Amino acid sequence: MADFTSAFWDWFIIALTLLSIIGLLIFTLKVGARKFVPGEKAESMGHVWDEDLHELNNPAPRWWYLGFIISIFWGILYLFLYPGLGSFSGYLGWSQIAQYEEEIAQAKQTFGPIFDEFKNEKIEDLARNPKALLVGQRLFSTYCTTCHGSDARGARGYPNLTDNDWLYGGDSVAIKTSIMKGRQAAMPPWGSLLKDAEIHAVAEYIRTLGGLSADDSLAAKGKANYSQYCMVCHGANGEGNPALGSPNLADDIWLYGGSSKKIIESIKDGRNGLMPPHENFLGEAKVHILAAYVYSLSR
Ligand code: HEC
Ligand code: HEC
Repeated sequence: MADFTSAFWDWFIIALTLLSIIGLLIFTLKVGARKFVPGEKAESMGHVWDEDLHELNNPAPRWWYLGFIISIFWGILYLFLYPGLGSFSGYLGWSQIAQYEEEIAQAKQTFGPIFDEFKNEKIEDLARNPKALLVGQRLFSTYCTTCHGSDARGARGYPNLTDNDWLYGGDSVAIKTSIMKGRQAAMPPWGSLLKDAEIHAVAEYIRTLGGLSADDSLAAKGKANYSQYCMVCHGANGEGNPALGSPNLADDIWLYGGSSKKIIESIKDGRNGLMPPHENFLGEAKVHILAAYVYSLSR
C-alpha cells in the first residue's frame, strides 16, 4: 500500500473490500432466509436435461448457509487482525518483514555459536577439521555451486577451485579475501586497437607460450605486440599476475578456452569475470569456514 503516492487508492481499496463484504452478507442472508418446508413442491427453473432432469429452485442447505456466514465473519476478523485494509497495519501489528527478521535472528542464535566456534581458528587448521569441512561443504552447496559447480570444478568463465591454479593466489589470506571482498577482473578489449590479423598473430604467440601447436611465423609476428601490450599484466613468459588476477597463459588451464577461436575472442572482446563479494551477505564467520573448505579442496 505504501507504494501508492496518493491516499485515494488506500480508500479505494478499503471501500471496495468493505462493499464486497457487505454485499456478500446481504446476498447470503437473503438466500439463507428461505427455509426448507417439508412437503412443499419446489419451483422449476425451466432447465431440463436428459428429458427428465429438472433444475429446481430448492433453498440452500443450512450447513452451506452457515459456512458462508462463518467465512464472512472470519474475513472481517482477519482484516481486523492482519494488514489488508488499505494502509491499516492490523491489530496484531504483524508484517512479513518483521517475521522474516525474527526468523533470521532465531537462526543466528541457533547457528551463530557453531560458526563462532571456528572463527578464531587458523584457516590452515580448520581445513583439516572434519566438522568444519562438513559445515563448509554445506555452505558451499548453498551459496557457491551456482557458479563454481557442485564439485567446485567450475565452468567456462568460472574458475576451478580444486586445482592448484589460482587467479588471485591460493594461500589462506588470498582465498578469504576473494570470498569476502569479491574480485573483478579487468582484461581490456583489444578489438579497436589491434587489427584482426594482429590479434590472430598474438593469439598464435600465446599458444606457443603454453607449448600448444601454433603457426610459428604468425606467432613470431605476434610477439612484439605481446611485449608491448600484454606483458604488463600477463608477464614476460605469460606467467600471469595474482595481484591483477591475470591468468597464467603458459599452462594448460584456460578460464575461457585455449582454442585459437576462444583465445582470439578473449583478446578481441576482453574479459571481465566477476566474483561477487560475500562479506556483508554472509558475515566473516561463515566466510572463514568457506575459505577453509576451499583451501582444503586443492590439498
Ligand atoms: C555469480 C557467480 C559466483 C558466485 C555465486 C561465486 N563465485 Fe567465486 N568466482 C566467480 C568468478 C567469475 C570468479 C573469477 C573472477 C575472475 O575472473 O577474476 C570467481 C573467483 C573465486 C575465487 C578466486 C579463485 C582464484 O583462482 O583465485 C574464489 C576463492 C571463489 N571464487 C570462491 C567462491 C566461494 C567460496 C563462493 C561462495 C560463497 C563463490 N566463489 C561464489 C563467480 C562466482
Ligand atoms: C590490464 C591487465 C591486462 C592486460 C593489459 C591484458 N590482459 Fe589478458 N587478462 C587480464 C585479466 C585480469 C584476465 C582474466 C579475465 C577474467 O578472469 O575474466 C585476462 C585474460 C586473458 C585471456 C584469457 C585466459 C584464459 O585462461 O582463458 C587471454 C587469452 C588474454 N588475457 C590475453 C591477453 C592478450 C593477448 C593481451 C594483450 C593484447 C592481454 N591479455 C592484455 C588482464 C590483462
